[in-house]
Amino acid sequence: MKIIIINSSPRQNGNTAMMCEAFRQGAMTATPSPEINTIHLNDLNFKGCQSCFACKLKGSARYGKCSLRDDLTPVLEAINDSDCIVLASPIYLMDLNSSAKAFLERLCFSLGSYETGYRSLAPKNIVVVTIYTMNTAEPLSPTSAMDNADAFLSHIFSKTHRLCAYDTYQFADYSKYVIEVFDEAQKSKRRARQFPQELKKAHALGAKIANRPLPDACLLRHRIGDNA
Ligand SMILES: Cc1cc2nc3c(=O)[nH]c(=O)nc-3n(C[C@H](O)[C@H](O)[C@H](O)COP(=O)(O)O)c2cc1C
Repeated sequence: MKIIIINSSPRQNGNTAMMCEAFRQGAMTATPSPEINTIHLNDLNFKGCQSCFACKLKGSARYGKCSLRDDLTPVLEAINDSDCIVLASPIYLMDLNSSAKAFLERLCFSLGSYETGYRSLAPKNIVVVTIYTMNTAEPLSPTSAMDNADAFLSHIFSKTHRLCAYDTYQFADYSKYVIEVFDEAQKSKRRARQFPQELKKAHALGAKIANRPLPDACLLRHRIGDNA
């Protein structure tokens, strides 16, 4: 099984990266071990969709493929050959961050056709996991932004499995920053109690997906309704 983990957070040791790593470690418990490639979007030089419409051109060999050439090109090509992708984004301004959105524009616009029913041009129904981490507690989380991203990915590939880490810790030492709107003691309590549970869920989902026989994994499109 080939798994590609895409972390859009600029912080390579932050909350989002930790959730990705927990998923990776869970997946690595499978036998045989999956091939896992972790991509940090912040290391790549790439743009969002340039609206060139080459992916929609009649009779073109590039139909359904993004024609923009940059550091994201090999990642998009590798996704077509993978069995599972994980898209992990911190929430910025009540939305996915800009790198995650640029990535989604390139991936979903080229593979989502304008044919009847917006037919998906993805070569197979790969398993998709989304991971979102955010400062807010669950009742204030931006569900519509997460739902939008998941809806596109579900349409293109297969129904997404979503993991969320709420009320995350932003600073290693809150005393160094001007913070009046958060209760540090409350946050630290939650960090100790809740975040390990969220990491555990990411680990468990990684193990569950990587241990599933591949033919089943490819049939997930309409059967999986259990967003973790
Ligand atoms: C520019 C910026 C905007 C943010 N906006 C939000 C927001 O709208 N809602 C929220 O819950 N958290 C927001 N956060 C907090 C992050 O989503 C949160 O701390 C996240 O877990 C950071 O992930 P990381 O540790 O992987 O960088 C924001 C952080 C930054 C830097």
